[in-house]
Amino acid sequence: MIKSSNYMTHPHQDRIYLFTNELFSAYEKYFENKPKVLSVIGSGDQIFNAILKGSNQIEAFDINVLAKYYFYFKKAAIEVLSKDEFINMFLEPEMSSIYYRYIERIMNNLDDSTKSFWDYLIQKCNKNWYLLYFSPLFHSNAFYVEDIIYTNPYLHSSEYLKLKGLLKDAQIEVKDGDILKLADEYHQKNFDLIYLSNIWSYVSWNEYSKMQKKLNLTDNGYLIAYSFREKNYPFPDINSEKKKISRDESLIVYTKKK
Ligand SMILES: C[S@@+](CC[C@H](N)C(=O)[O-])C[C@H]1O[C@@H](n2cnc3c(N)ncnc32)[C@H](O)[C@@H]1O
Repeated sequence: MIKSSNYMTHPHQDRIYLFTNELFSAYEKYFENKPKVLSVIGSGDQIFNAILKGSNQIEAFDINVLAKYYFYFKKAAIEVLSKDEFINMFLEPEMSSIYYRYIERIMNNLDDSTKSFWDYLIQKCNKNWYLLYFSPLFHSNAFYVEDIIYTNPYLHSSEYLKLKGLLKDAQIEVKDGDILKLADEYHQKNFDLIYLSNIWSYVSWNEYSKMQKKLNLTDNGYLIAYSFREKNYPFPDINSEKKKISRDESLIVYTKKK
């Protein structure tokens, strides 16, 4: 189904992450009160959580063009759905026609290009969200609902409502592309928080390291990288600290060079 879409001919395409597979709660303290953020999109969760923690100028990027479409879709869904509707649709959908009514509300809140992307896919799935949700468009949906809610503050009741309000004022600029190249554009700016997830594990360390040096932090800023396999992370430099999250996972937190 999805292979016949024009979107699949784009060179930078991959499955979409429905939700973060990282333990955001392990690093949410670094996201507190960081107005200017540079972040990879992925599932978009880190961006929603950052906005909740006080970020309002966000530069977001992803090499996977599909991530952007999902980000806009999820953002529009948060804006128009109640928390229970959102959780039901995105975390535990059933074979039901009710989601098409949700989708109509979401679509009214999307720009034309994002709308035509989702409209194409939804029509291909006979307007059935359940089929699309469990299609190869997304990474495996095998996760515990409780874990996703636990680690994402924006899925907690009062926070979800707060995020709805904050989204109205947040400036979010999205770019498609490889951070190894985009770093030259971002070089002109200073960020309070740079969130690179585990991008380091997809590229050569040499290239990654050159890219990271081009990104600038404000005085009390943090650059955060995530590692799923402790032993594979190359080396933290003098301005970084490694924080163990679990047996295999850790966080590498960089601060500004003194
Ligand atoms: C690093 S992955 C892993 C998912 C992540 N652990 C999370 O919780 O969202 C997140 C995103 O990084 C993107 N990505 C990987 N390499 C990239 C690169 N060189 N430049 C920009 N984005 C990249 C992927 O397309 C994916 O959407």
